[in-house]
Amino acid sequence: MAEISEQTAHTRTASYLAEKGEVGRVLLLYSGGLDTSVMLKWIADEYEAEVVTLTVNLGQPGEDYEVIEAKARQIGAVECHTLDAREEFARDFVLPAIKANALYGGGYPLFTALGRPLIAKLAVDVARASGCDTIAHGCTGKGNDQVRIEATIATLAPELKVIAPVRGWQMGREQEIEYARKHGIPIKTHPSQGTEIAPYSIDDNLWGRSSEGRWIEDLGHAPDDDVFQLVTPPERAPDEPEVVDVTFERGVPVTLNGERLGLVELIERTAEIGCRHGVGIVDHIEDRIVGLKVRDIYEVPAAAIILLCHQELEKLVGTIHQNQFKPGLERQWAYLVYAGLWWEPLRADLDSFMQRVNEQVTGTIGVKLYKGSVRVVTRASPNAVYDQALASFGESGGLFSQQASPGFIELWSLQSRMAYQLRARDAEK
Ligand code: ARG
Repeated sequence: MAEISEQTAHTRTASYLAEKGEVGRVLLLYSGGLDTSVMLKWIADEYEAEVVTLTVNLGQPGEDYEVIEAKARQIGAVECHTLDAREEFARDFVLPAIKANALYGGGYPLFTALGRPLIAKLAVDVARASGCDTIAHGCTGKGNDQVRIEATIATLAPELKVIAPVRGWQMGREQEIEYARKHGIPIKTHPSQGTEIAPYSIDDNLWGRSSEGRWIEDLGHAPDDDVFQLVTPPERAPDEPEVVDVTFERGVPVTLNGERLGLVELIERTAEIGCRHGVGIVDHIEDRIVGLKVRDIYEVPAAAIILLCHQELEKLVGTIHQNQFKPGLERQWAYLVYAGLWWEPLRADLDSFMQRVNEQVTGTIGVKLYKGSVRVVTRASPNAVYDQALASFGESGGLFSQQASPGFIELWSLQSRMAYQLRARDAEK
């Protein structure tokens, strides 16, 4: 393109990446961890920029947002924002995923993939409101999250630039710790070694938790129990099973064991019960957007229960044709979301379909939880396309005559029988 200067064309791999001279005030997506804490100081120095931080609460357990803000100020943030986005996350991101029975690769309920477009959208809002020209995030160059965040920013705010220092600065963990020490950035230290606890790489929110790194990268290494910070290992779960009922109205889970709850609370309470019974552990090999395969350990107690109930109820109220067709669209929905294309119009088109199907998804499913397993045990729906009298082995009732079935079978199998005979004839030659 003619308007890009020659120098820029050499150095920029994407037009939205910030050049040094154009950065004045940066909105940093800040978690309070080592990477983003080092980034805060490094950006302020390297770009001579003011740094505004944003920390988003999506229901990740055990976070102290006041401590995180205080740390950001101490390192030099000029403004700190914390947003509680749990309601929006549940309503606008998790709920569509429930209606789409969304599981990527057959096991990953997409909690991180659902959270990133919201986090990036909020970053755009706050960046604009606080006069920032650039958004900074702490993703590496190997993962999916860089794609989700940058695709969102480039889509929603073409005027904003992006910097992703971790992708370029080539500091390893030890060098980051050294940098932090040198600049008085507080780090959590391990009592025995005097360095920060070498951690798993964790991401979590209301809808689940992932762990990567350390022994997880060794495919032959079965999970060590210390990775499970949410779900009780099934071996240690109670000896008594527990039955849980989830009621849906038009695809929305609205009551848990008969108690009406808002979506955030319903998800949190379901997760608690699932955790107790060892439910929702997924040891998953995944095809990333960026070529690589990776192994993740997921703890998804709420998703394991709610998705199963939803899927079961949907099966009951849908016709055979709906039930045969929908999984293909669900897979496409999950793939788009996984692959960072939340804002792609096909996702919204698919949502309209999911929404339409879910108009019928009203009823209650009971599941039994026991030492890591979750199994449907009861079903009830005013919209079930099910008639107990018809299904039973007794009389057919008035809807059809069993005498008519042979005629149906003859026509139903007609083409298949003809094709079979043709092949049998050719095989004899
Ligand atoms: N593999 C999952 C995904 O791509 C989880 C990624 C977790 N992200 C992280 N930065 N630790 O969505």
